[in-house]
Amino acid sequence: MSANVTTKGQAAICARGIARDFRAGEQTLRVLHGIDVDIRKGELTYVVGESGSGKTTLISIMCGILWPTEGEVEVFGTDIYSLSDRRLVDFRLNNIGFIFQQYNLIPTIDAASNAAVPLIAQGMRRLEARQHGITMLEKLNMGDQVDKLPRQLSGGQQQRVAIARALVHEPALVVCDEPTAALDAKSGRRVMDLLREVAVAEDRACIIVTHDNRVFDLADRILVLEDGRITNDGTQMPEDE
Ligand SMILES: Nc1ncnc2c1ncn2[C@@H]1O[C@H](COP(=O)(O)OP(=O)(O)OP(=O)(O)O)[C@@H](O)[C@H]1O
Ligand SMILES: [Mg+2]
Repeated sequence: MSANVTTKGQAAICARGIARDFRAGEQTLRVLHGIDVDIRKGELTYVVGESGSGKTTLISIMCGILWPTEGEVEVFGTDIYSLSDRRLVDFRLNNIGFIFQQYNLIPTIDAASNAAVPLIAQGMRRLEARQHGITMLEKLNMGDQVDKLPRQLSGGQQQRVAIARALVHEPALVVCDEPTAALDAKSGRRVMDLLREVAVAEDRACIIVTHDNRVFDLADRILVLEDGRITNDGTQMPEDE
């Protein structure tokens, strides 16, 4: 079943015919099978599915960090894979915040500077950017950890630095791969509430890959992926999950 498709232009993301192959030794493995999906503005969309079902691959393609083998992706009306590499990098920097499954923090700079990376890349002065980083970390209950290096932080604290970095430049699209995996219930909910705040704004959107059934109630929409296909698209988890 292909997911609900709206008219082009209303969607934050409009993905059509997305397929992705990976080489596995001599063989080619098809991981996504012609996915059509729109991610609507103003919504918090979850992507759920078993390990290996293609969630990370799909969201990586939807946010311009992994080329599809087939298909097209428009993000806010821009056909992102028709852009030059350089323009795609700029497009991502100005429009998209990611939280990766691995946090990818810079080990040699502290939490506040890590959180400020997108603003510095956009050209903001270091001190000012750092201040914004600190403000975002405070919202995540990390105000007393801002001058720590990543290795001095717990997994859940590092995850919150990665979340601060994804939100600090107020991107219109936020894409997160398991943002609450390392967090306790209370911190997890705080993160999801913050992501909801981001997503429900008009002209913005948020996609979250999650296994965390403690926060399923916060989603506007849940897409279920099975073996590289969307098998359910609704406001709740299907009965048998
Ligand atoms: N770079 C790669 N090279 C080869 N195969 C890959 C690569 N990346 C992903 N795959 C394969 O593609 C399939 C989907 O991977 P993906 O990472 O998208 O799954 P996932 O749903 O995010 O799983 P998880 O919940 O474990 O994170 C898996 O079978 C995986 O082994
Ligand atoms: Mg994954």
